[in-house]
Amino acid sequence: MNKQRQKIVVVGLGYIGLPTASILATRGHSVVGVDVKESTVATINSGKIHIVEPDLDVLVRSAVNSGNLKAVLVPEEGDTFILAVPTPFTQKSCADDKIPDLSFIDSATRSIAPHLREGNLIILESTSPVGTTEHIAELLAELRPDLVQSRAGSRSQLSVHLAHCPERVLPGHILRELVDNDRIIGGLNRASAEKARDLYKSFCNGGMHLTDARTAELAKLVENSSRDVNIAFANELSMICDRLGINVWELIELANRHPRVNILQPGPGVGGHCIAVDPWFIVAAAPKEARLIRAAREVNDSKPHWVLERVRSKAERFKNPVIGCLGLAFKANIDDLRESPALEITRELIRSGIGRVMACEPNVEEVRDDFPIYDLSQVLRDADILLVLVDHEEFKGIDRELLKEKVVIDTRGVWR
Ligand SMILES: NC(=O)c1ccc[n+]([C@@H]2O[C@H](COP(=O)([O-])OP(=O)(O)OC[C@H]3O[C@@H](n4cnc5c(N)ncnc54)[C@H](O)[C@@H]3O)[C@@H](O)[C@H]2O)c1
Repeated sequence: MNKQRQKIVVVGLGYIGLPTASILATRGHSVVGVDVKESTVATINSGKIHIVEPDLDVLVRSAVNSGNLKAVLVPEEGDTFILAVPTPFTQKSCADDKIPDLSFIDSATRSIAPHLREGNLIILESTSPVGTTEHIAELLAELRPDLVQSRAGSRSQLSVHLAHCPERVLPGHILRELVDNDRIIGGLNRASAEKARDLYKSFCNGGMHLTDARTAELAKLVENSSRDVNIAFANELSMICDRLGINVWELIELANRHPRVNILQPGPGVGGHCIAVDPWFIVAAAPKEARLIRAAREVNDSKPHWVLERVRSKAERFKNPVIGCLGLAFKANIDDLRESPALEITRELIRSGIGRVMACEPNVEEVRDDFPIYDLSQVLRDADILLVLVDHEEFKGIDRELLKEKVVIDTRGVWR
C-alpha cells in the first residue's frame, strides 16, 4: 500500500478523469470518482468503461475490484480534489468569436465546495483559459467564507491549496503518457504547487516543473496553438501550390532538406477537440495581440470549405458522379470522429447532393444512423472521384492501376 495513501475525489470521469482515477486507485489511493451521468457511474461501478482507450478496461476493472475506486453522482469529503470536466467554447453567432465556456468548471466547483476542509488540495486538470484557477479561488471564497483567512497587512488567502496541472496525454496512449509525460504544475502559491507535486510523484515518472497557475494555464494553450499555427502554414502552402500548379508534397520535402526548416504536412483541416479549440481561449483573452493565432485558426477552419470547392469543380464534368470519401477519423489509424474535418466534408458532400457519396472508414463500423460505410474495394470499384481525407495505412498500399480512370483529390498526400 502507498505510504502517503490519500482519499482523492476525481470530478468528471471521461477520457482524462477515468484513467487518472484508475491509476491513482491502483497505486493505493482511495479514489471516489464523480460524474453527473448516471449511466457512466453505473458502468464504472460494474468494472466496465464507457469510452474507447486501449487497456483502460483492465485497469478500471482491477481498480474497482480492489475496492480502491468507486463511482458516485455527488462528491464527498476527501484530501485532494481533481477537476477533469469539459472546457468547450461557445459562440453566440457565426459572426462572433468563440469564447470559453466555464460552466462545467463552475458547477464542478460548486459541487465540491460543501465538502472542503482546511488543508485540502484542489487540482484543476481541465484545459483552461488564463485566470481560471484564480476564478475558482474567488468562487470558493464566496461559497465558503469560513475557508478565507484574513491576514493583517496582507491579502486574505484561502485555507485550501489550489493548483492547475494541465493534462497533455494523447488519446490511444493515455495510460502510458499519464505516467511518463512531464508535468507542468502551476500553484496559486508555492505551497499549493509543492503539495500537487507530491501527489503526482505517487504515480508519475516524468519531470515535474513548478510554476504559477497563470503560466501553467497559458503553457497548455500555447502548446496546442503552436501545433495549430504550424499546421496552418502547411495548409496555406497547399492552397498556394494548387493555384500555382506546384506539387505541395514535393515542395515541402525539398524545403525540409534545409537543416533548420521543418514544415508539417497539410490536410483537409484540423480536428480533434484540443488543437481546434484551445487557441480560441488565447484569442478571447488577448484579441488584439493574438493575430497570428487567430489567422491560423481561420486558415485551418477554412480548409474543409476549400476541399469542398475542389470536389465541386471536379464533379462538374460528370452527370451523376460517385464520390468516394476515404477516411472519416480526425487523424490516421484511429476511430475517433470527434471534430473531424473528414467527417464534416463527407456530411457536407452528402447534403450538397452534387453526387452519390460512398464513405469508407476502415476503423469504424457505422456512423450512427447518418450514412452507410462501404468497403474500400467497393469504393475503388464504383467511385468516379476519389477524395482522400485521412492517411490510414489501408489506403497507402492501393494498387495505382485502380486509380487510373479516376479523378483523385488527395488532401493527405497518400498517393503523392
Ligand atoms: N481527451 C483528451 O485527449 C484531453 C487531453 C488533454 C486535455 N483534455 C482536457 O481535459 C478536460 C476533460 O476532457 P475529457 O476529454 O476527459 O472530457 P470528457 O467529455 O471525456 O469527460 C468529461 C466528463 O465530465 C463529466 N462532467 C461534466 N460536468 C460535470 C460535473 N459538474 N460534475 C461531474 N462530472 C461532470 C461528463 O459527464 C464527462 O463524463 C477538458 O478540459 C479537455 O480539454 C483532454
